[in-house]
Amino acid sequence: CGIIGYTGHRPAVPLIVEGLRRLEYRGYDSAGVAFIQNKQLTTVRAEGKLVNLETKLESVNTTLATSGMGHTRWATHGIPVERNAHPHMCSDGSLAIIHNGIIENYQPLKNELMEKGYSFKSETDTEVLANLIAEGRKQTGALDKGLSWALQRVEGAYAVVVYATDMPGVIYGARLSSPFVMGIGQGENFVASDIPAFLPYTRDVVFLENGEMVRIEANDWKVLDVKTLEPIEKQVHHIQWDIQSAQKGGYKHFMLKEIFEQPRVITDCMTGRVDWQRKEVLLPELDALPVPKRLHIVACGTSYHAGMWGQTLIENWSGIPVNVEIASEFRYRDPILQEGDMILVISQSGETADTLAGLRIAKDRGINVIGLCNVVGSSIARESDTVIYTQAGPEISVASTKAMCSQMTVLTLMALAWARRTNALADDTRVNAITGLSKLAGQLEMELPRMRSEAQSLARLYSTARSFFFLGRGQCYPLALEGALKLKEISYIHAEGYASGEMKHGPIALIDPDFPTFALALNDHLYSKVKSNLEEVQARSGKVIALANPGHDLKVDHPWILPEAWGPLNAFLALPALQLFSYEAADYLGKDVDQPRNLAKSVTVE
Ligand code: G6P
Repeated sequence: CGIIGYTGHRPAVPLIVEGLRRLEYRGYDSAGVAFIQNKQLTTVRAEGKLVNLETKLESVNTTLATSGMGHTRWATHGIPVERNAHPHMCSDGSLAIIHNGIIENYQPLKNELMEKGYSFKSETDTEVLANLIAEGRKQTGALDKGLSWALQRVEGAYAVVVYATDMPGVIYGARLSSPFVMGIGQGENFVASDIPAFLPYTRDVVFLENGEMVRIEANDWKVLDVKTLEPIEKQVHHIQWDIQSAQKGGYKHFMLKEIFEQPRVITDCMTGRVDWQRKEVLLPELDALPVPKRLHIVACGTSYHAGMWGQTLIENWSGIPVNVEIASEFRYRDPILQEGDMILVISQSGETADTLAGLRIAKDRGINVIGLCNVVGSSIARESDTVIYTQAGPEISVASTKAMCSQMTVLTLMALAWARRTNALADDTRVNAITGLSKLAGQLEMELPRMRSEAQSLARLYSTARSFFFLGRGQCYPLALEGALKLKEISYIHAEGYASGEMKHGPIALIDPDFPTFALALNDHLYSKVKSNLEEVQARSGKVIALANPGHDLKVDHPWILPEAWGPLNAFLALPALQLFSYEAADYLGKDVDQPRNLAKSVTVE
């Protein structure tokens, strides 16, 4: 979602709307602003595109407001209707907030506030937070203290902006795990989720860290510790980015930005879905349906590869037989669907025509459909019996990266959720899986910069190759397919993903010194098999790059060592390495990374 808060000397509302427009590239489905004029706090909100909000604002006089805040919402759950749009006011109208993220413990907080007489107009966790801050202010006698009090009671991830009727020139903000920056101007200051929101006005930026709170006025700003309210010294960065690179977070391409977003995506996908203490998964969307007798996963492209990867986990952990199919095949082959079967359609966009057709076939036959989608309110989300959102945030690059990571995260959770009901999984595996998941984002975050430089040097060495093999076995086989797909899509180098054990049945005939192989030789039960497959390639003078874990004994040209995650979660570290290799090759070759020729982000035709 996009956030902007402003206090200064200019008419605030047009500036805020313009700021929201510069965050538009991230997608949104509702928008809203709040401003104070003549001691009155007004909010204006509208569903759909920003222009709807602008139309509403035409009939509102906002000329005197020199402070305010605005929000565009890209729903990750909950339908985009006006009453769910931000800003939200507390029940007595004394303050308004906008908020990105999720308040996990909002239900008990809401119950407590209702007992105290607070009322609610929406179903959102944001309105709970607004009232909680109002209660904090009442108890502590000051807005900063009240905000600190409230935020210490909240569990979840957020960036929040607070604006009180009796303090029109002051804006508060705070961050925990959601992006948040401050812009320092001349006689004006800004807070925002992203730099483009205020870039025409200032290039002086302060990046906020978790647990920090800010207070801005036209001529003053300070950063405080959320808990103690002690001041924190911050560095002001002068950035040189233009709007386009600011939209890309300073990265050269959206694809690169999205690859680097994956640690956060893993965390966001799990937010509210794991009880970390009891080490249990909470997926009420799935509990609403019976456990499938047999599951058919239907998807296209990268989403199909995620489905293939998930198949093994679901089968191994929950004991449910799983069949994975390409949607364009599934829809025309009259598949056998029996009572108790279930379909899981996976689609980032939720609009892929073939996947949607697969969904409709299942529905016509009376089979339950689960949609795993990223875009809230998309066709697949609407037509599925149950939808589970990946919560990855908008994906802009045509070549999908973070969406696959999010789908794999949710598939892992689904496998665990079903396993609980089928009683098929040993307790220690569940505990290991959840502990592994909790470490994953941190491991990946640490590794990504090193991964990128490795990808860069390998891509330079190999981008003159005309063809590539990507090899893997077991759960690494779908990753090999994805690695090859990425390289084809953006660098236009021919690549084939193959199950490494199948090479000897034909493809190995292609191997020569100019036909390199990119292998996945991670530390799993098939490692020694992959190792011998690679020796066969090397015996034909084929060059080999291999992703491996510490302690490997491969004798390949380029071992690429990745840190090890628990069991199947190793895939989450291998996937970005594959993505980065393709990215660096395409960039080195000067290709249009974000918009490769002949491809579309969302394929709504057959
Ligand atoms: C297009 C995109 C791919 C994507 C596929 C499936 O081909 O270019 O990146 O994997 O569609 O899209 P979906 O939105 O259904 O996941």
